[in-house]
Amino acid sequence: MVNDRRPDDMVRITNKELAQAFIDEQIAALREQIGNKKVLLALSGGVDSSVVAAMLIKAVGQQLVCVHVNHGLLRKGEPEQVIEVFRNQMKANLVYVDATDRFLDKLAGVTDPETKRKIIGGEFIEVFAEEARKLDGIEFLAQGTIWPDILESEKGIKAHHNAGGLPEDMKFELVEPVKILFKDEVRIVGECLGLPANMVYRQPFPGPGLGVRCPGAITRDRLEAVREADAILREEFARHGLEGKVWQYFTVVPDFKSTGIRDGKRTFEWPVIIRAVNTQDAMTAEVENIPFDLMQLLVKRITSEVKGVNRVLYDFTPKPSATIEYE
Ligand code: XMP
Repeated sequence: MVNDRRPDDMVRITNKELAQAFIDEQIAALREQIGNKKVLLALSGGVDSSVVAAMLIKAVGQQLVCVHVNHGLLRKGEPEQVIEVFRNQMKANLVYVDATDRFLDKLAGVTDPETKRKIIGGEFIEVFAEEARKLDGIEFLAQGTIWPDILESEKGIKAHHNAGGLPEDMKFELVEPVKILFKDEVRIVGECLGLPANMVYRQPFPGPGLGVRCPGAITRDRLEAVREADAILREEFARHGLEGKVWQYFTVVPDFKSTGIRDGKRTFEWPVIIRAVNTQDAMTAEVENIPFDLMQLLVKRITSEVKGVNRVLYDFTPKPSATIEYE
């Protein structure tokens, strides 16, 4: 029997030995709970669901069915990495659903941030439920719930069931193998399970993805500009030793254009806003002091490589008064 709650005297998992002991214990417990039945998991590619997937692959192999829904708002290379790591390397049973058109069509013309979030969340559940209905004999639903989620939901801060909200007739028994762990422990466990470092140590990424970094009504071309600029920012931060050091960094492309000049001709294009912040708990945040040379390199690369962009701005605003995201 596994612990349903984190025991008060549980030793913090800070090294591979402790992580391995936890993994061994969980794998035995998972095998006992699941038997020869099938388990379903919404695999976003985020830290928590990835670690749950890796653990379940070790425990029950092909009895796990992972569903990766690409809502079209993921960062560059993310769906490809999920397929490479889980299907090609770990030999997982992975259903990949490219639902980009479905999401972007529903979001077309929608400007209100909370409405955008609701559409993305609602559509996600719909796509996931549709895939689940196609599968026979699923009895369990795995989730990447972690200990802070439980504490926050008990305090009434947020509801913790990541894949909560499934239709009434879809009743599964929950499997939550990392639910007594803190985030830093989940990362060590993930490393120990053989997941790539850039997957387990990655920065936080909101559920609605790049959708909240494309303020106002999302268009495919502006979304593409956000994605390409974000990829350049991540690449240069990694190259300059800032990956894993800066808490969260990303780009935003606001819905306005300004005049520029390229090859002697007038342009009228979007700006890219760079945001890079440090924080302990995301309640307040300080702006990272990006070296000027790196800033100049980013400006050069983004304005020459990202289509439709002629200007780069740096957001110097801490939280408060600004939030970390733009919507
Ligand atoms: P804000 O913008 O509120 O962000 O200062 C604080 C942290 O929360 C993340 N964030 C979200 N995460 N769904 C998520 O899963 C969301 O809708 C969402 N909005 C903000 C944000 O990236 C930051 O780390």
